[in-house]
Amino acid sequence: MSESFLQSANFIQSAYLVAAVMFILGLRNLSSPKTAVRGNIQAAIGMFIAIVATLLDANVVSYGVIIGGIVVGSALGALLALRIEMTAMPQMVALLNGFGGAASALVASAELLSQPETGAVHDGIVPFAIVASVLIGSVTMTGSAVAFAKLQELVGSGALTYPGQQFVNGALGIALLVLGGVVMMDTGNFGAFYGVIGLSLLLGVLLVIPIGGADMPVVISLLNSYSGLAACATGFVLDNSTLVISGSLVGASGLILTQIMCVAMNRSLGNVLFGAFGAAAVSEGSTGEAGAQDQGNVVAYTPQDAAVIFSNAQSVIVVPGYGMAVAQAQHAVRDLADTLVEKGISVKFAIHPVAGRMPGHMNVLLAEADVPYERLVEMDEINPEFPETDVAIVIGANDVVNPSAREEKSSPIYGMPILNVDSAEHVFVIKRSMNPGFAGIQNPLFFKDNTMMIFGDAKKVVVSLAEAVRNY
Ligand code: TAP
Repeated sequence: MSESFLQSANFIQSAYLVAAVMFILGLRNLSSPKTAVRGNIQAAIGMFIAIVATLLDANVVSYGVIIGGIVVGSALGALLALRIEMTAMPQMVALLNGFGGAASALVASAELLSQPETGAVHDGIVPFAIVASVLIGSVTMTGSAVAFAKLQELVGSGALTYPGQQFVNGALGIALLVLGGVVMMDTGNFGAFYGVIGLSLLLGVLLVIPIGGADMPVVISLLNSYSGLAACATGFVLDNSTLVISGSLVGASGLILTQIMCVAMNRSLGNVLFGAFGAAAVSEGSTGEAGAQDQGNVVAYTPQDAAVIFSNAQSVIVVPGYGMAVAQAQHAVRDLADTLVEKGISVKFAIHPVAGRMPGHMNVLLAEADVPYERLVEMDEINPEFPETDVAIVIGANDVVNPSAREEKSSPIYGMPILNVDSAEHVFVIKRSMNPGFAGIQNPLFFKDNTMMIFGDAKKVVVSLAEAVRNY
C-alpha cells in the first residue's frame, strides 16, 4: 500500500466508518454488565482507529504539537484515573465533560479566528456549527467546572438562588441568540464572536449554581450530553464524519441516561434544573433528628443478635446503597453473602436504579467485589419477592427504601419508585446514625416493628455480621 493511498480521502473515510461501527457495537455491549468489558475494548479500538486515521490526514500541520498534547494529556489522565477514589468518580466525570466541551469550543474558535490567515470562506452550515460548538462547548466547560467544585466541596454544595434568577438566565440566552445570529451572518465580526464566548461561559456558571450538589449526577449526565453535541457541531466545522457520529452518540446516550435518572427519582428534568432541590433538602435535612423523635422508638441490635435471625432464614435480599460506597464495604458484603450461601441460604441483591450517587454505582462496586452478576436483580423484578423473603438487609441505603415515597403524599420523594423491603419478614438496616440520606427526610422504615437497626460503619458491621453468622 502506497503512502498516498493511506492518506486518500477514501481510505480515511473508510477507517472512520469502521471506527463508527466499533463505537456503536461498543455502546450496545456496554448496556449489559456481562458484555461491558468487551464493549469498552471495542469502543477503545474504534477510538484508536479514528485517531490513527486522523493523524494520516495530509492536512496535519505539525506532528510535534500533536504528540506533545498526547503525551501530556495521557500522563495527566492516567494519573487522575489512578488516584481517584471510587466515591469521587462523579466529579472526575464532570471534569472530563468540561474538558470535552472546552476542546470543541477551542477547535471551532480556532477555525473562525484563523480566517484572516487561512483565507477560508465559511458558508453553508459551517457558521451555524461554529456558533453552536462554541456556545454549547463553553456552557459545558464552565457548567462542569461548577459541578466539579460543588462535588469536591471547593464551594458550598447547596443550591444558590437569588430573586429574578430565571429572568437573568433567560435574558442571557436571548442575548446569546442575537449575538450568535450576528456571527452567523458575518463570520468576520470577531467582536460579536468574543461576546458569544464570554456570555456562554457566564451562562454555564449561572445555569449550574442554582442546582444542589446532590442533583449533580443528573446535571453531569446532561452536561455529558452537551459535550457530545458540541463535538458533533465541531465535526460539521471540520467536515469530520467520525466526530459527527461519535458526538451524536454521546449526545443521545447522555440524554437517555438523564431521562432514566429523572424517571427513577420521579422528577422532571425541569424540576432538577430549576427546582433548587438541594436547598430544600438541606433545610429539611436539618429537621431529620426531630423527625426521628416524632416517629417512635428505634431499637439498636448487634451483629450477634442478627446472626440468630439469619440462622432461621432461608432467603435473604441484600439492598446496597450510597453508604456501602462510602464505607467501601463491597468486599465485606460479598464475603457475608458467600457465608450465607454456604449455610444454604438463598441470597439476592436488589438494585435500585438511583442507589448511590451515579448511574450503575452499585453494579460497579459489586462487580469489583466479584459478586456473580446473576445474583443482582433489578427493582421491578425483585419487588414482588420481598413478601416471601425472610430477611432484607439494607446496607447504607436510605431514600431508595423509604416507604414515604409510597405512602406520604406530602413527602418530597412521593411517587419515587422504591424497593419494598418493609414487606420482608425481618429487615436489618445498617447505617451509622439516624441521619437522613440524600433527600434529607426521615425514613419511617426505621421505626417499623419488623425493622432492626444495626448502627455503625457498614464495612465494620458487615465484617462482624459475617463472623457472627459463621460462628453461630
Ligand atoms: P441515601 O438516601 O443517600 O442514604 C445513604 C445512607 O448511607 C445515609 O442515610 C447514611 O446514613 C448512610 N451511610 C453513609 N455512610 C455510611 C457508612 N460509612 N456506613 C454505613 N452507612 C453509611 O442513599 P441511597 O438509598 O443509595 O439513595 C440514593 C439517593 O441519591 C436517592 O435519593 C437518589 O435519588 C439520589 N441520587 C442518586 C443518583 C444516582 S444516579 N444514583 C443521582 C442523583 C441523586 P448515616 O449517615 O446515618 O450513616
